[in-house]
Amino acid sequence: MADERFAFVVVSNRLPVDRVVAEDGSASWKQSPGGLVTALEPVMRKTEGAWVGWIGQPEVELAPFTHSGLRIVPLALTGGEVELFYEGFSNDTIWPLYHDVIVPATYHRDWWDSYVAVNQRFADQAAAVADVGATVWVHDYQLQLVPRMLRLARPDLVIGFFNHIPFPAYGLYSQLPWRTQIIEGLLGADVIGFQRVSDAGNFSRAVRRLLGYPTRSPFIEVPATDELPARRVVARPFPISIDVVAFEELARSPAVQARATQIRAELGNPKTVILGVDRLDYTKGIGHRLKAFSEILEEGRLKVEDVTLVQVASPSRERVETYKHLRDEIELTVGRINGDFGTIGHQAVNYLHHGFPREEMAALYLAADVMLVTALRDGMNLVAKEYVAARHDEDGVLVLSEFAGAADELKTSLRINPHDIDGLKDAIMQAVDMPRAERRKRMRSLRKRVRENDVGHWSRSFLRTLSDANGGIDRLGADLDPLGDLEWTVERVPKP
Ligand code: F6P
Repeated sequence: MADERFAFVVVSNRLPVDRVVAEDGSASWKQSPGGLVTALEPVMRKTEGAWVGWIGQPEVELAPFTHSGLRIVPLALTGGEVELFYEGFSNDTIWPLYHDVIVPATYHRDWWDSYVAVNQRFADQAAAVADVGATVWVHDYQLQLVPRMLRLARPDLVIGFFNHIPFPAYGLYSQLPWRTQIIEGLLGADVIGFQRVSDAGNFSRAVRRLLGYPTRSPFIEVPATDELPARRVVARPFPISIDVVAFEELARSPAVQARATQIRAELGNPKTVILGVDRLDYTKGIGHRLKAFSEILEEGRLKVEDVTLVQVASPSRERVETYKHLRDEIELTVGRINGDFGTIGHQAVNYLHHGFPREEMAALYLAADVMLVTALRDGMNLVAKEYVAARHDEDGVLVLSEFAGAADELKTSLRINPHDIDGLKDAIMQAVDMPRAERRKRMRSLRKRVRENDVGHWSRSFLRTLSDANGGIDRLGADLDPLGDLEWTVERVPKP
Protein backbone atom coordinates (compact mmCIF):
# COMPACT_ATOMS: atom_id res chain seq x y z
CA MET A 1 0.00 0.00 0.00
CA ALA A 2 3.08 2.25 -0.09
CA ASP A 3 2.35 5.65 -1.73
CA GLU A 4 -1.30 4.71 -2.13
CA ARG A 5 -3.63 7.75 -2.03
CA PHE A 6 -7.22 7.73 -0.84
CA ALA A 7 -10.30 9.78 -1.72
CA PHE A 8 -11.61 9.34 1.83
CA VAL A 9 -9.45 9.42 4.94
CA VAL A 10 -10.53 9.11 8.56
CA VAL A 11 -8.10 10.40 11.19
CA SER A 12 -8.52 9.52 14.88
CA ASN A 13 -6.18 8.89 17.76
CA ARG A 14 -7.57 5.36 18.27
CA LEU A 15 -7.63 2.81 15.50
CA PRO A 16 -10.36 0.15 15.53
CA VAL A 17 -7.79 -2.34 16.80
CA ASP A 18 -5.17 -2.15 19.53
CA ARG A 19 -1.93 -4.08 19.34
CA VAL A 20 -1.36 -6.35 22.32
CA VAL A 21 1.83 -8.23 23.06
CA ALA A 22 1.70 -11.51 25.00
CA GLU A 23 4.32 -12.58 27.56
CA ASP A 24 6.04 -14.74 24.93
CA GLY A 25 6.47 -11.60 22.78
CA SER A 26 3.87 -12.52 20.16
CA ALA A 27 1.65 -9.66 18.98
CA SER A 28 -2.06 -9.79 18.20
CA TRP A 29 -4.94 -7.33 17.69
CA LYS A 30 -7.95 -6.72 19.90
CA GLN A 31 -10.89 -4.39 19.42
CA SER A 32 -10.27 -0.91 20.81
CA PRO A 33 -12.45 0.51 23.58
CA GLY A 34 -14.82 3.45 23.27
CA GLY A 35 -17.74 4.86 21.36
CA LEU A 36 -15.68 6.35 18.54
CA VAL A 37 -14.61 2.96 17.23
CA THR A 38 -18.10 1.45 17.76
CA ALA A 39 -19.57 4.15 15.52
CA LEU A 40 -16.87 4.55 12.88
CA GLU A 41 -16.03 0.94 12.17
CA PRO A 42 -19.27 0.15 10.30
CA VAL A 43 -18.92 3.40 8.34
CA MET A 44 -15.38 2.52 7.27
CA ARG A 45 -16.45 -0.99 6.24
CA LYS A 46 -18.66 0.60 3.59
CA THR A 47 -15.91 2.75 2.08
CA GLU A 48 -12.66 2.29 0.28
CA GLY A 49 -11.06 4.79 2.61
CA ALA A 50 -8.02 4.68 4.85
CA TRP A 51 -7.96 5.04 8.64
CA VAL A 52 -5.01 6.96 10.11
CA GLY A 53 -4.39 6.46 13.83
CA TRP A 54 -2.26 5.19 16.69
CA ILE A 55 -2.05 1.44 17.39
CA GLY A 56 -2.29 1.83 21.17
CA GLN A 57 1.33 1.00 22.04
CA PRO A 58 4.37 3.26 22.21
CA GLU A 59 7.45 2.95 20.02
CA VAL A 60 5.98 0.58 17.43
CA GLU A 61 6.49 1.58 13.81
CA LEU A 62 4.36 -0.39 11.36
CA ALA A 63 3.83 -0.07 7.62
CA PRO A 64 0.24 0.47 6.40
CA PHE A 65 -1.74 -2.79 6.45
CA THR A 66 -5.22 -4.21 5.99
CA HIS A 67 -7.03 -5.64 9.02
CA SER A 68 -10.29 -7.54 8.43
CA GLY A 69 -11.00 -5.47 5.35
CA LEU A 70 -10.05 -2.06 6.80
CA ARG A 71 -7.12 -0.10 5.37
CA ILE A 72 -5.03 1.05 8.32
CA VAL A 73 -2.27 3.69 8.23
CA PRO A 74 -0.59 3.49 11.65
CA LEU A 75 1.10 6.45 13.26
CA ALA A 76 3.79 5.69 15.85
CA LEU A 77 3.90 7.57 19.16
CA THR A 78 7.00 7.59 21.34
CA GLY A 79 6.78 6.75 25.06
CA GLY A 80 7.20 10.47 25.79
CA GLU A 81 4.36 11.40 23.44
CA VAL A 82 2.06 8.82 25.05
CA GLU A 83 2.82 10.43 28.40
CA LEU A 84 2.55 14.09 27.39
CA PHE A 85 0.14 14.13 24.43
CA TYR A 86 -2.19 11.18 25.24
CA GLU A 87 -2.17 10.68 29.00
CA GLY A 88 -1.33 14.31 29.73
CA PHE A 89 -2.94 16.93 27.51
CA SER A 90 -5.67 14.75 25.95
CA ASN A 91 -6.77 12.86 29.03
CA ASP A 92 -5.74 15.01 31.99
CA THR A 93 -6.37 18.48 30.49
CA ILE A 94 -9.01 18.37 27.75
CA TRP A 95 -10.99 15.32 28.95
CA PRO A 96 -11.79 16.65 32.46
CA LEU A 97 -12.25 20.23 31.21
CA TYR A 98 -14.72 19.17 28.49
CA HIS A 99 -16.59 16.97 31.02
CA ASP A 100 -17.36 19.96 33.24
CA VAL A 101 -14.32 19.51 35.50
CA ILE A 102 -15.78 16.49 37.37
CA VAL A 103 -12.15 16.14 38.40
CA PRO A 104 -9.80 19.13 38.13
CA ALA A 105 -8.09 19.70 34.78
CA THR A 106 -4.30 19.97 34.82
CA TYR A 107 -2.48 22.55 32.70
CA HIS A 108 1.15 21.91 31.77
CA ARG A 109 3.02 23.78 29.04
CA ASP A 110 5.11 20.77 28.04
CA TRP A 111 1.93 18.70 27.60
CA TRP A 112 0.62 21.42 25.26
CA ASP A 113 3.86 21.47 23.27
CA SER A 114 3.59 17.72 22.76
CA TYR A 115 -0.10 18.07 21.76
CA VAL A 116 0.88 20.58 19.05
CA ALA A 117 3.74 18.38 17.79
CA VAL A 118 1.67 15.17 17.67
CA ASN A 119 -1.28 16.95 16.01
CA GLN A 120 1.17 18.16 13.35
CA ARG A 121 2.31 14.58 12.74
CA PHE A 122 -1.28 13.36 12.37
CA ALA A 123 -1.91 16.22 9.91
CA ASP A 124 1.25 15.35 7.95
CA GLN A 125 0.30 11.69 7.80
CA ALA A 126 -3.23 12.48 6.62
CA ALA A 127 -1.88 14.93 4.01
CA ALA A 128 0.50 12.23 2.75
CA VAL A 129 -2.24 9.66 2.07
CA ALA A 130 -5.06 11.98 0.91
CA ASP A 131 -5.65 12.15 -2.84
CA VAL A 132 -6.15 15.51 -4.60
CA GLY A 133 -9.51 16.96 -3.49
CA ALA A 134 -10.03 14.11 -1.00
CA THR A 135 -12.39 14.25 1.96
CA VAL A 136 -10.60 13.98 5.30
CA TRP A 137 -12.72 13.40 8.41
CA VAL A 138 -10.86 14.16 11.64
CA HIS A 139 -12.20 12.87 14.97
CA ASP A 140 -12.25 13.91 18.58
CA TYR A 141 -10.59 16.00 21.25
CA GLN A 142 -7.12 14.52 20.83
CA LEU A 143 -6.80 16.09 17.35
CA GLN A 144 -8.41 19.53 17.53
CA LEU A 145 -5.49 21.30 15.84
CA VAL A 146 -5.39 18.95 12.85
CA PRO A 147 -8.09 20.68 10.72
CA ARG A 148 -6.18 23.99 10.49
CA MET A 149 -2.82 22.26 10.05
CA LEU A 150 -4.26 20.18 7.21
CA ARG A 151 -5.88 23.17 5.53
CA LEU A 152 -2.62 25.09 5.56
CA ALA A 153 -0.78 22.12 4.04
CA ARG A 154 -3.50 21.00 1.62
CA PRO A 155 -6.03 23.71 0.69
CA ASP A 156 -7.49 21.31 -1.92
CA LEU A 157 -8.95 19.00 0.75
CA VAL A 158 -12.51 18.89 2.08
CA ILE A 159 -12.11 18.72 5.85
CA GLY A 160 -14.65 17.62 8.45
CA PHE A 161 -14.24 17.37 12.22
CA PHE A 162 -16.46 15.51 14.69
CA ASN A 163 -16.18 15.98 18.45
CA HIS A 164 -17.29 12.80 20.25
CA ILE A 165 -17.30 14.34 23.72
CA PRO A 166 -19.14 17.40 25.09
CA PHE A 167 -17.93 20.93 24.36
CA PRO A 168 -18.06 22.91 27.63
CA ALA A 169 -19.75 26.19 28.44
CA TYR A 170 -17.55 29.26 27.97
CA GLY A 171 -17.22 29.84 31.73
CA LEU A 172 -15.26 26.56 31.94
CA TYR A 173 -13.65 26.55 28.50
CA SER A 174 -12.11 29.94 29.18
CA GLN A 175 -9.82 28.33 31.81
CA LEU A 176 -7.78 26.75 29.04
CA PRO A 177 -4.55 28.71 28.51
CA TRP A 178 -4.58 27.66 24.81
CA ARG A 179 -8.30 28.32 24.28
CA THR A 180 -7.81 30.53 21.19
CA GLN A 181 -5.40 28.16 19.44
CA ILE A 182 -7.85 25.26 19.87
CA ILE A 183 -10.76 27.25 18.43
CA GLU A 184 -8.61 28.35 15.50
CA GLY A 185 -7.49 24.76 14.98
CA LEU A 186 -11.08 23.51 14.77
CA LEU A 187 -12.13 26.33 12.44
CA GLY A 188 -9.77 24.86 9.83
CA ALA A 189 -12.59 22.37 9.11
CA ASP A 190 -15.45 23.05 6.67
CA VAL A 191 -17.94 21.33 8.98
CA ILE A 192 -17.56 20.85 12.74
CA GLY A 193 -19.95 18.29 14.20
CA PHE A 194 -21.03 17.98 17.83
CA GLN A 195 -23.21 15.52 19.73
CA ARG A 196 -25.77 17.92 21.19
CA VAL A 197 -27.33 21.26 20.31
CA SER A 198 -25.81 22.67 23.51
CA ASP A 199 -22.27 21.60 22.48
CA ALA A 200 -22.56 23.39 19.13
CA GLY A 201 -23.96 26.46 20.93
CA ASN A 202 -21.08 26.46 23.44
CA PHE A 203 -18.57 26.29 20.59
CA SER A 204 -20.14 29.18 18.64
CA ARG A 205 -20.23 31.26 21.82
CA ALA A 206 -16.51 30.59 22.41
CA VAL A 207 -15.79 31.68 18.81
CA ARG A 208 -17.69 34.95 19.33
CA ARG A 209 -16.08 35.65 22.70
CA LEU A 210 -12.52 34.80 21.72
CA LEU A 211 -12.33 35.78 18.06
CA GLY A 212 -15.36 38.04 17.54
CA TYR A 213 -16.35 36.28 14.29
CA PRO A 214 -19.99 36.66 13.25
CA THR A 215 -22.08 33.51 13.83
CA ARG A 216 -25.61 32.74 12.74
CA SER A 217 -26.38 29.14 13.59
CA PRO A 218 -25.17 26.88 12.03
CA PHE A 219 -22.74 29.23 10.21
CA ILE A 220 -19.54 30.88 11.37
CA GLU A 221 -18.00 33.50 9.09
CA VAL A 222 -14.22 33.16 9.26
CA PRO A 223 -12.49 36.24 7.79
CA ALA A 224 -9.45 36.11 5.50
CA THR A 225 -5.99 36.06 7.05
CA ASP A 226 -2.52 36.25 5.50
CA GLU A 227 -2.52 32.47 5.35
CA LEU A 228 -6.08 31.53 4.38
CA PRO A 229 -8.98 33.09 2.42
CA ALA A 230 -12.34 33.98 4.03
CA ARG A 231 -14.53 30.93 4.60
CA ARG A 232 -17.93 29.94 5.92
CA VAL A 233 -17.77 27.10 8.46
CA VAL A 234 -20.76 25.00 9.53
CA ALA A 235 -20.95 24.05 13.25
CA ARG A 236 -23.96 21.94 14.24
CA PRO A 237 -25.09 18.80 16.06
CA PHE A 238 -25.04 15.33 14.48
CA PRO A 239 -25.98 12.87 17.26
CA ILE A 240 -23.90 9.74 16.77
CA SER A 241 -25.33 6.21 16.80
CA ILE A 242 -24.59 2.53 16.23
CA ASP A 243 -25.17 -0.03 13.49
CA VAL A 244 -28.64 -0.87 14.78
CA VAL A 245 -29.49 -3.59 12.24
CA ALA A 246 -26.21 -5.44 12.78
CA PHE A 247 -26.52 -5.25 16.54
CA GLU A 248 -30.10 -6.44 16.53
CA GLU A 249 -29.17 -9.30 14.20
CA LEU A 250 -26.47 -10.33 16.62
CA ALA A 251 -28.91 -10.24 19.54
CA ARG A 252 -31.40 -12.36 17.57
CA SER A 253 -28.87 -15.09 16.86
CA PRO A 254 -29.69 -18.36 18.63
CA ALA A 255 -26.19 -18.52 20.14
CA VAL A 256 -26.54 -15.11 21.77
CA GLN A 257 -30.04 -15.87 23.05
CA ALA A 258 -28.85 -19.15 24.54
CA ARG A 259 -25.93 -17.35 26.15
CA ALA A 260 -28.33 -14.80 27.70
CA THR A 261 -30.28 -17.62 29.35
CA GLN A 262 -27.04 -19.19 30.50
CA ILE A 263 -25.84 -15.89 32.03
CA ARG A 264 -29.02 -15.62 34.12
CA ALA A 265 -28.58 -19.22 35.23
CA GLU A 266 -24.94 -18.61 36.16
CA LEU A 267 -26.11 -15.66 38.26
CA GLY A 268 -28.47 -18.02 40.11
CA ASN A 269 -31.61 -16.98 38.20
CA PRO A 270 -32.38 -13.94 40.37
CA LYS A 271 -35.74 -12.20 39.84
CA THR A 272 -33.97 -9.09 38.58
CA VAL A 273 -30.66 -8.59 36.78
CA ILE A 274 -29.44 -4.99 36.72
CA LEU A 275 -26.59 -4.10 34.35
CA GLY A 276 -23.98 -1.34 34.07
CA VAL A 277 -21.48 -1.26 31.18
CA ASP A 278 -18.81 1.43 31.07
CA ARG A 279 -15.20 2.20 30.46
CA LEU A 280 -13.82 2.61 33.97
CA ASP A 281 -14.03 6.41 33.84
CA TYR A 282 -15.02 9.01 36.45
CA THR A 283 -17.46 10.58 33.98
CA LYS A 284 -19.67 7.48 34.07
CA GLY A 285 -21.08 7.88 37.60
CA ILE A 286 -20.30 4.28 38.61
CA GLY A 287 -19.83 5.31 42.25
CA HIS A 288 -23.23 7.06 42.30
CA ARG A 289 -24.87 3.93 40.92
CA LEU A 290 -23.21 1.70 43.53
CA LYS A 291 -24.28 4.05 46.30
CA ALA A 292 -27.91 3.99 45.17
CA PHE A 293 -27.86 0.20 44.84
CA SER A 294 -26.30 -0.38 48.26
CA GLU A 295 -28.84 1.93 49.94
CA ILE A 296 -31.68 0.02 48.25
CA LEU A 297 -30.29 -3.22 49.74
CA GLU A 298 -29.68 -1.60 53.10
CA GLU A 299 -33.24 -0.27 53.29
CA GLY A 300 -34.59 -3.70 52.36
CA ARG A 301 -36.32 -2.36 49.24
CA LEU A 302 -34.71 -5.29 47.40
CA LYS A 303 -33.31 -8.53 48.83
CA VAL A 304 -29.90 -9.75 47.72
CA GLU A 305 -31.45 -13.16 46.85
CA ASP A 306 -33.69 -11.40 44.33
CA VAL A 307 -31.30 -9.08 42.55
CA THR A 308 -27.79 -8.94 41.08
CA LEU A 309 -26.03 -5.88 39.72
CA VAL A 310 -23.61 -6.90 36.97
CA GLN A 311 -21.05 -4.13 36.48
CA VAL A 312 -18.77 -4.39 33.46
CA ALA A 313 -15.98 -1.83 33.88
CA SER A 314 -13.55 -2.09 31.00
CA PRO A 315 -9.98 -0.98 31.79
CA SER A 316 -9.11 2.49 30.55
CA ARG A 317 -6.17 4.97 30.71
CA GLU A 318 -4.67 2.96 33.53
CA ARG A 319 -1.50 5.01 33.92
CA VAL A 320 -3.34 8.30 34.52
CA GLU A 321 -3.45 9.05 38.26
CA THR A 322 -7.18 9.92 38.49
CA TYR A 323 -8.05 6.63 36.79
CA LYS A 324 -5.87 4.68 39.24
CA HIS A 325 -7.70 6.31 42.16
CA LEU A 326 -11.06 5.67 40.59
CA ARG A 327 -10.33 1.98 40.18
CA ASP A 328 -9.26 1.66 43.81
CA GLU A 329 -12.37 3.53 44.95
CA ILE A 330 -14.81 1.49 42.86
CA GLU A 331 -13.23 -1.84 43.79
CA LEU A 332 -13.25 -0.93 47.48
CA THR A 333 -16.94 0.00 47.25
CA VAL A 334 -17.83 -3.22 45.39
CA GLY A 335 -15.95 -5.23 48.04
CA ARG A 336 -17.81 -3.44 50.81
CA ILE A 337 -21.24 -3.96 49.26
CA ASN A 338 -20.53 -7.67 48.70
CA GLY A 339 -19.15 -7.98 52.23
CA ASP A 340 -22.15 -6.22 53.77
CA PHE A 341 -24.97 -7.79 51.77
CA GLY A 342 -23.66 -10.96 50.06
CA THR A 343 -24.66 -14.42 51.26
CA ILE A 344 -23.14 -17.74 50.38
CA GLY A 345 -24.38 -18.26 46.86
CA HIS A 346 -25.62 -14.66 46.31
CA GLN A 347 -23.28 -11.87 45.38
CA ALA A 348 -24.84 -8.41 45.33
CA VAL A 349 -22.48 -6.99 42.70
CA ASN A 350 -20.86 -9.04 39.99
CA TYR A 351 -17.91 -6.84 39.02
CA LEU A 352 -16.00 -7.55 35.80
CA HIS A 353 -12.90 -5.56 35.02
CA HIS A 354 -12.48 -6.51 31.36
CA GLY A 355 -13.77 -5.76 27.94
CA PHE A 356 -15.95 -8.38 26.23
CA PRO A 357 -16.59 -9.32 22.61
CA ARG A 358 -19.74 -7.92 21.01
CA GLU A 359 -21.54 -11.29 21.21
CA GLU A 360 -21.13 -11.45 24.98
CA MET A 361 -22.26 -7.83 25.32
CA ALA A 362 -25.40 -8.55 23.30
CA ALA A 363 -26.13 -11.56 25.54
CA LEU A 364 -25.64 -9.45 28.67
CA TYR A 365 -28.07 -6.81 27.35
CA LEU A 366 -30.65 -9.51 26.68
CA ALA A 367 -30.14 -10.97 30.14
CA ALA A 368 -30.59 -7.62 31.92
CA ASP A 369 -34.00 -6.48 33.14
CA VAL A 370 -32.71 -3.02 33.95
CA MET A 371 -29.86 -1.10 32.29
CA LEU A 372 -28.26 1.67 34.34
CA VAL A 373 -26.56 4.56 32.51
CA THR A 374 -25.73 7.10 35.21
CA ALA A 375 -23.09 9.26 33.50
CA LEU A 376 -22.29 12.58 35.16
CA ARG A 377 -21.41 13.92 31.72
CA ASP A 378 -21.19 11.97 28.46
CA GLY A 379 -20.99 13.02 24.81
CA MET A 380 -23.58 10.44 23.71
CA ASN A 381 -23.29 7.02 25.46
CA LEU A 382 -23.65 4.34 22.83
CA VAL A 383 -24.14 1.62 25.46
CA ALA A 384 -27.66 3.01 25.98
CA LYS A 385 -28.34 2.68 22.24
CA GLU A 386 -26.84 -0.83 22.11
CA TYR A 387 -29.14 -1.96 24.92
CA VAL A 388 -32.19 -0.67 23.05
CA ALA A 389 -31.04 -2.20 19.74
CA ALA A 390 -30.49 -5.59 21.40
CA ARG A 391 -34.00 -5.70 22.97
CA HIS A 392 -35.90 -7.14 20.00
CA ASP A 393 -38.16 -8.76 22.61
CA GLU A 394 -39.37 -5.22 23.51
CA ASP A 395 -38.55 -5.85 27.13
CA GLY A 396 -36.07 -4.31 29.57
CA VAL A 397 -35.99 -0.85 31.14
CA LEU A 398 -33.37 1.80 30.42
CA VAL A 399 -32.52 4.16 33.27
CA LEU A 400 -30.65 7.04 31.62
CA SER A 401 -28.82 10.08 32.93
CA GLU A 402 -30.04 13.40 31.59
CA PHE A 403 -26.35 14.37 31.34
CA ALA A 404 -25.67 11.80 28.60
CA GLY A 405 -26.19 13.03 25.02
CA ALA A 406 -28.46 10.02 24.39
CA ALA A 407 -31.07 11.57 26.73
CA ASP A 408 -31.99 14.11 24.00
CA GLU A 409 -33.27 11.27 21.82
CA LEU A 410 -34.24 8.46 24.24
CA LYS A 411 -37.07 10.31 25.89
CA THR A 412 -39.12 7.31 27.01
CA SER A 413 -36.28 5.96 29.14
CA LEU A 414 -36.48 6.65 32.88
CA ARG A 415 -34.40 9.81 32.93
CA ILE A 416 -32.50 10.58 36.09
CA ASN A 417 -30.12 13.07 37.67
CA PRO A 418 -27.32 10.81 38.97
CA HIS A 419 -26.39 13.33 41.67
CA ASP A 420 -29.86 12.91 43.18
CA ILE A 421 -29.32 9.55 44.90
CA ASP A 422 -32.91 9.34 46.22
CA GLY A 423 -34.27 10.07 42.76
CA LEU A 424 -31.95 7.43 41.29
CA LYS A 425 -33.10 4.85 43.87
CA ASP A 426 -36.75 5.58 43.08
CA ALA A 427 -36.07 5.22 39.35
CA ILE A 428 -34.33 1.86 39.91
CA MET A 429 -37.31 0.65 41.95
CA GLN A 430 -39.73 1.95 39.31
CA ALA A 431 -37.75 0.01 36.68
CA VAL A 432 -37.70 -3.18 38.77
CA ASP A 433 -41.46 -3.01 39.46
CA MET A 434 -42.58 -1.76 36.03
CA PRO A 435 -45.46 -3.78 34.54
CA ARG A 436 -44.76 -5.64 31.29
CA ALA A 437 -47.19 -3.48 29.27
CA GLU A 438 -45.40 -0.27 30.24
CA ARG A 439 -41.98 -1.81 29.60
CA ARG A 440 -43.10 -2.81 26.13
CA LYS A 441 -44.58 0.61 25.37
CA ARG A 442 -41.46 2.47 26.44
CA MET A 443 -39.05 0.07 24.72
CA ARG A 444 -41.03 0.18 21.46
CA SER A 445 -40.76 3.91 21.32
CA LEU A 446 -37.03 3.82 22.18
CA ARG A 447 -36.43 1.27 19.45
CA LYS A 448 -38.26 3.39 16.88
CA ARG A 449 -36.04 6.38 17.73
CA VAL A 450 -32.81 4.36 17.64
CA ARG A 451 -33.75 2.79 14.30
CA GLU A 452 -34.51 6.19 12.74
CA ASN A 453 -31.10 7.57 13.61
CA ASP A 454 -28.60 4.79 13.17
CA VAL A 455 -24.92 5.22 12.41
CA GLY A 456 -25.53 5.21 8.65
CA HIS A 457 -27.86 8.17 9.04
CA TRP A 458 -25.27 9.94 11.22
CA SER A 459 -22.39 9.51 8.77
CA ARG A 460 -24.48 10.29 5.67
CA SER A 461 -25.86 13.35 7.35
CA PHE A 462 -22.39 14.59 8.28
CA LEU A 463 -20.78 13.82 4.93
CA ARG A 464 -23.70 15.29 3.00
CA THR A 465 -23.40 18.53 4.94
CA LEU A 466 -19.67 18.49 4.30
CA SER A 467 -20.20 18.01 0.60
CA ASP A 468 -22.88 20.75 0.48
CA ALA A 469 -20.60 23.13 2.32
CA ASN A 470 -18.10 22.59 -0.48
CA GLY A 471 -20.34 23.20 -3.44
CA GLY A 472 -22.17 19.91 -3.47
CA ILE A 473 -21.58 16.35 -4.47
CA ASP A 474 -20.08 17.46 -7.82
CA ARG A 475 -16.95 18.55 -6.09
CA LEU A 476 -16.51 15.12 -4.50
CA GLY A 477 -17.23 13.50 -7.85
CA ALA A 478 -19.24 10.31 -8.26
CA ASP A 479 -16.27 8.00 -7.88
CA LEU A 480 -14.98 9.98 -4.93
CA ASP A 481 -18.28 9.81 -3.09
CA PRO A 482 -17.02 8.21 0.13
CA LEU A 483 -20.12 6.13 0.74
CA GLY A 484 -20.42 4.96 -2.86
CA ASP A 485 -23.97 4.43 -4.00
CA LEU A 486 -25.55 4.49 -0.57
CA GLU A 487 -28.66 6.58 -0.53
CA TRP A 488 -28.33 10.00 1.08
CA THR A 489 -31.28 10.55 3.40
CA VAL A 490 -30.49 13.73 5.19
CA GLU A 491 -31.97 17.05 5.88
CA ARG A 492 -30.11 19.80 4.03
CA VAL A 493 -28.44 22.60 5.90
CA PRO A 494 -30.67 25.65 5.50
CA LYS A 495 -29.07 28.38 3.40
CA PRO A 496 -28.60 31.64 5.33
O1 F6P B 1 -15.74 7.67 22.25
C1 F6P B 1 -15.15 8.58 23.06
C2 F6P B 1 -13.74 8.21 23.38
O2 F6P B 1 -13.36 9.15 24.28
C3 F6P B 1 -12.77 8.23 22.22
O3 F6P B 1 -12.36 9.48 21.81
C4 F6P B 1 -11.67 7.43 22.76
O4 F6P B 1 -10.84 6.94 21.77
C5 F6P B 1 -12.41 6.34 23.47
O5 F6P B 1 -13.55 6.95 23.99
C6 F6P B 1 -11.62 5.54 24.49
O6 F6P B 1 -10.62 6.25 25.14
P1 F6P B 1 -9.09 5.94 24.87
O7 F6P B 1 -8.84 6.12 23.40
O8 F6P B 1 -8.36 6.93 25.69
O9 F6P B 1 -8.86 4.54 25.31
